[in-house]
Amino acid sequence: MHSNPNYAYVRGQVVPLDQAFLHISDLAIQRGYGVFDYFRVHNGRPVFLDDYLMRLQESAKALHMEVPLSDEELKEVILDIISKNDIPVSGIKMILTGGYSANGYDPAEPSLVILQQPMALPSSELVEKGIKIITHDYVREVPRAKTINYTMGIRLIDEIRQQGAHDVLYERNGVVTEFPRCNLFIVKHDDTVITPAENVLLGVTRKNVLALADQKYKAVEGEVTVEDIYQAKEVFLTSTTKRILPIVQVNDQVIGSGKPGAVTLDLLQALIKLEEAYFSLAV
Ligand SMILES: Cc1ncc(COP(=O)(O)O)c(C=O)c1O
Repeated sequence: MHSNPNYAYVRGQVVPLDQAFLHISDLAIQRGYGVFDYFRVHNGRPVFLDDYLMRLQESAKALHMEVPLSDEELKEVILDIISKNDIPVSGIKMILTGGYSANGYDPAEPSLVILQQPMALPSSELVEKGIKIITHDYVREVPRAKTINYTMGIRLIDEIRQQGAHDVLYERNGVVTEFPRCNLFIVKHDDTVITPAENVLLGVTRKNVLALADQKYKAVEGEVTVEDIYQAKEVFLTSTTKRILPIVQVNDQVIGSGKPGAVTLDLLQALIKLEEAYFSLAV
């Protein structure tokens, strides 16, 4: 465990974690009304921060909320928390909720919370082995917003475990979208790299991987069906906490050779290089 006291920002103040509370009238508690974003901190520096700040603004707008701090002010608070906490490899969550509602329903002045937690990327063993996933019929309510509602994903944790899987991919009428916390990519036999276009969160990792794939292969945002996945040469997921994780089985269907594919692993190396390049440029 980390020995230093951990600090968080809650409604205008940076306070020790044991004093970091929201009132029970907050709409996050009362109605699950809120959005958030999450980025990695590596050696004390935020990774691709501007992308996440922009997405927080987009999510807030989709729920008719306003982020109470400007991006510059947010950055100041973030750097303050990073320097106070000293957790070199970690993630920072910025949560914006509907605020302290007088009647438990009408939104009030939003509550902004910022907290830092240790995090670990997937082990190299997991990346070398790849994972099994299952599918489930669901579409998130406001797909372009990163809302705090993960009810379906959390309800499915037992089912995922029972099936010996690592995650669940949402699909409706055979068209797939995303995972509770990750985006999906497939690689076709002609090395075209495709990710679902509709009803997904626009992942920051998804954006970076699309750009990297476009440099070497053909990268497309379009419709992907469960059948496309079964027929794919390679399948993988992307997210801030997972980077790129190969998928070698979907339901009962083994994908390709049943091992992580060359394009997937190539893109993972390219993504790691992109992060390194970001650090060498970031001030
Ligand atoms: C619903 C959903 N889709 C996709 C992602 C992946 O996005 P990112 O690469 O920005 O982490 C997330 C991230 O948590 C998510 O919540």
